[in-house]
Amino acid sequence: MDRAEKIVLGFSVGLLGVFFVALMLAARLASIDVPPCLPPEIKPFSEGRVDTLPDGSRRIFYVARMWRFEPEIVEVAVGKPTEIFLSTADVTHGLYVSWTNTNLMAIPGAVNAYTLRIDKPGVYPVICHEYCGSAHQNMVAYIVAK
Ligand code: CUA
Repeated sequence: MDRAEKIVLGFSVGLLGVFFVALMLAARLASIDVPPCLPPEIKPFSEGRVDTLPDGSRRIFYVARMWRFEPEIVEVAVGKPTEIFLSTADVTHGLYVSWTNTNLMAIPGAVNAYTLRIDKPGVYPVICHEYCGSAHQNMVAYIVAK
């Protein structure tokens, strides 16, 4: 191996180290985490519903289907965690809660989850962000934070 190859190889390995450290720092500082494992009591579902937990927080089971979300309107308490579970009854959809970092994919046969906390009262549109057919743009639901 000649000197130029050794330099390039050393630079490449060093760069990988820099990327790894940057990734770890970003994950730590921005609290980036992989999606959690689902609790064992959460099974695939085909009907949307809302559960109220003993502490007053909500657990929303969204079902995306052409071309709506079930449930359509959900009230949540400001400052309390809201667990969102998402499934689809037909094709792949997306779920984005406007003005938050909640962004999930609804994939056939799978359940995706995220815990959202809204700190400001208001009406938050929930939209589909994955093209899912001719009325994709009509897929909207609402979270009302009080
Ligand atoms: Cu559902 Cu786009």
